[in-house]
Amino acid sequence: MDPATQSQKAEHICKLAPIVPVLIVERVEHARPLAEALVAGGLPALEVTLRTEAALDVIAEMAKVEGGFVGAGTLLTPDDVKRAVDAGAEFGVSPGSSDTLLQACEDEGLALLPGAASATEAMHLLERGYFVQKFFPAEAAGGAPFLKSLASPLPQISFCPTGGVSTKNATDYLSLPNVICAGGSWVAPKDMVQSGDWAGIEKLAKDAASLPR
Ligand code: 3PG
Repeated sequence: MDPATQSQKAEHICKLAPIVPVLIVERVEHARPLAEALVAGGLPALEVTLRTEAALDVIAEMAKVEGGFVGAGTLLTPDDVKRAVDAGAEFGVSPGSSDTLLQACEDEGLALLPGAASATEAMHLLERGYFVQKFFPAEAAGGAPFLKSLASPLPQISFCPTGGVSTKNATDYLSLPNVICAGGSWVAPKDMVQSGDWAGIEKLAKDAASLPR
C-alpha cells in the first residue's frame, strides 16, 4: 500500500472521534469488555500498545468487537508490523519512524500513523506521502503552541498529538486547524481496567467523545 493511501485510511480512522484511546492491557480477559465500553462511549478507534505480553491476543479479541477499529501502537520493527497484522490490527501507530518500519507497513498494507516531533521529521514523512502523523511526545515536545506553529508552513499535514494529552489540555490541541484527533491513555486508567469498572470507562469515553474539535 502506498503511503498516501495509508494516510487516507489513517485519516478516516482519526476522523471517527476526537480521541483515540491509548491502551496498555495486561490481561486478555479485559480486552473485550474494555473495547466494548470504549466503543459504547463513542470512541471506536483503539490503539493497543505492544508493551505487554498479552497485547497481540488483546488486539485479536478487540478486533471481534462490533463497531471498533483496533490498531497496534508502539510499532518499532518489521516483526512488530507483521505480528500486528496477523493479530488483526487495522492500523498501526509508531512513536517515531525509521525507513525499515515504514517499508514494512507499506509492504504489509498496514495504514500507519507515524510519529514526528519536529518540522524536519514531519517533512521527511510528508515527502514519502504521509500527510497524517502522530505528534509525539506532544506535551514534552512543545505542546499545542509548537503544533500551532507548524500549521502555517506545513498546512498539508494533520496531526494526532499524543503523550501528555489529558482533559485539561485536549481542547487546546483539538481547536488547532492541523489537529485531526488526539491520543491519550486517560480514558482507560489502569486501576479502572484492573477493577473492571467498565461503566466508569464508558463514562470517561463519552466525555472524551463529546470534546469539541
Ligand atoms: C504513550 O505512548 O503512552 C502515549 O503517548 C500515551 O501517553 P499518555 O499516557 O500521556 O496519554
